[in-house]
Order: sequence, then C-alpha cells, then structure tokens
Amino acid sequence: MAEKNSLLEVYKQTKGQLVGHGPRNIQILQDAFLNVDSGLESDMYGTGKVIENFQAKMAQYLGKEDAVFFPSGTMAQQIALRVWCDDRELQSVAYHPLSHLEIHEEDGLKKLHHIKTILLADKNRVIELDDVKSLQEDIACLLLELPQREIGGQLPTFETLKAISEYCRERGIKLHLDGARLYEILPYYKKTAIEVCELFDSVYVSFYKGIGGIAGAILAGEHSFVKNSKIWKRRYGGDLISLYPYIISANYYFDDRVNKMERYYEDAKELASYYNKCYGITTVPDIPMSNMFHVYLNFPKEKVEKVLINIYEATNIGLTGRINELDEQSCYFEVSIGDQYSTINKTEIDTVFSLLNKQLKEII
Ligand SMILES: Cc1ncc(COP(=O)(O)O)c(C=O)c1O
Repeated sequence: MAEKNSLLEVYKQTKGQLVGHGPRNIQILQDAFLNVDSGLESDMYGTGKVIENFQAKMAQYLGKEDAVFFPSGTMAQQIALRVWCDDRELQSVAYHPLSHLEIHEEDGLKKLHHIKTILLADKNRVIELDDVKSLQEDIACLLLELPQREIGGQLPTFETLKAISEYCRERGIKLHLDGARLYEILPYYKKTAIEVCELFDSVYVSFYKGIGGIAGAILAGEHSFVKNSKIWKRRYGGDLISLYPYIISANYYFDDRVNKMERYYEDAKELASYYNKCYGITTVPDIPMSNMFHVYLNFPKEKVEKVLINIYEATNIGLTGRINELDEQSCYFEVSIGDQYSTINKTEIDTVFSLLNKQLKEII
C-alpha cells in the first residue's frame, strides 16, 4: 500500500500558504539578477564596488562607522565575540541560554576560540537588566538576540534595552546585537534601525530571514572593530573570491522588503489571534512582537499532523510544513510572516480556522 504523504509534502503542494515569502527555489536568485548589468565586475576577496558599496549602504542604514559582509551569521558572530574578547583581554561572554551560538553552532565559539560562555536568564524569558546586574564575574561582551527566536520572538522593552546598554557602557562591557531579524522588530519598538543600533557596540543582521535573500550577513561597528573582523573573516575562509551572488540578492530583497515589516507585523498579530481562538491552541507570545511567533498545541504531534493534512487537502491552504514534538501530549511550530499572508483572502482564512477549531475539538 502506498505510504501517506508527509505533512511537508502536502504543505508544499498547497496553492497558498499563510507564512513566509514562498518556496526557496532558484527563482529567488533569478529575480534578483533580472535587471543587473551583466558587465558589472565581480568582487574579489572582499574588495570591489559590489561588496564595498553594499557594506557602506548597510553601515549607513545601521548608523555605524563601518560594516563587512559575511557569507553567514554564524561566522560573523563568533568573530565579533572573539574580537571583543581580544580587545578586553578577557575570554568570557554572556548570552541567553537559547541563543543561536549556544544551541545551533556546535559550540564553535568554545571549540575554536576557547571563550567561556555564561548563560543569562531563565530560558523561557528574555534577558532583563537584573540578570546582567547579577553577573558574578567580569565579561568582555554581552550578546542580546532581538527578537529571541526560540521563545517565539519575544523582546524586552526599549527602556530595558537602554538601561542594559547604559549599564554595560559604564562597566566597559561591549554590547553585541544578534539582529538576524532586526528589521522585523522596528515596528514594535517604533524606532529606526539607527535608534536601536546606537545602544550596541556591534551589530549583525541577516539577509535571508524576513528579507528573504539567499544567504549572507552584515557585521557593523566602529572602524577598528570591522578591521579586526575582516582579518578573522580571512582566517575563517570567509573571503570567498566572489560573494556577489549573495550580495546582489541581499541588496535586491533588502530594498524590496525592508519597508514591508510593519505589514508583516500587523499580519502576524492577526494570524496569532486566529490561532488563539482555536481549541487547545495558544501562541507565544500571546500578541506577537515582530513578524514571528510560536504556536503551541495541547495534542499529540501525529494527531495534529493528520488534522493539518486534512485541512490542507480540503482548503488548498498551508499553515506549516513542520511540527516539533514537546512531549507525548503536546507540540509546537514556528510561524514567520512574509509576502504570502496578504495574498490569501479573509474568507479563505476564516474557513481554514473554523475547520481547524472543529477538527481539534474532535481529536479527544
Ligand atoms: C538569531 C540567529 N542568529 C544567528 C543565526 C545564524 O545565521 P546563519 O544561518 O547566516 O549562519 C541565525 C540563523 O538562523 C539566527 O536565527
């Protein structure tokens, strides 16, 4: 007997989806290159107009003296923390227990740089000023991830950010921003990127999350910090002879989407309210603080998968392609709003959620 299609396969076949910008296929690169002058010269090992112009543009957008383009955020941030540790001659940093460096980078910071990491705050909430004040030992750098992805994109208040920044400055602690999703939080804070970044000594931003490019990152800060980061980029093998496929697509999608973040944020709040009206579902946070949130379901993963597959087949609309098991009785998935949400009309969304609510009630 033929096996039933998996959730991801059925999801991919749906006509419309409520999350993301669309499939990550080759079309993304082709669209970005459609109007690019074919005579434009490639960058060469970190130099050339393509890379230098983009770095200057992003330094200006972030309000920093200088910026350097990296193939990945993982590389950029390990290097940022190494540079700050060398600067202070102190091999110790602090960050959230669920930060990307702690749980997704195979301990790169520890194995490659022998930097001690102190985990601040309970993993289910964001870092507050008191957590920083409670540090028992000196650190070279504190990293804040805004929004804190693994807890649904929660954010501290802007007042807290200002207080943490002031506290760190008084003590000579460098403050680094993991701003993989920086653009996505600006509508919540009602601030510009410059206003957020001026609280930090160094900033990393990504081009393939809310922006939807291929890959790539910018690391920004003062000249000497960027100069030292470039040396480490060379040591890491990050100076690919040509990075222009990433840079041109990063630039293209940055221009296209950076001003759409307010809409994604409003859409995320609307979608979360749909979920929160369903039986056995809650979102974290309750009201999203950016374009992302997590959906928690008090039902076993396999049962939720069956319900979702039914709904995708009945409506041709997909909600998620992946679900993570929490325990035998509950599961969750991540939602990240992009261009696709606004292509689906409200009547269709109402139908999806009334079906979801009905079918979840029938699970027990
Ligand atoms: C918060 C955060 N920081 C850093 C990274 C690393 O980015 P990259 O995939 O470019 O290495 C990610 C990637 O998902 C992320 O979500």
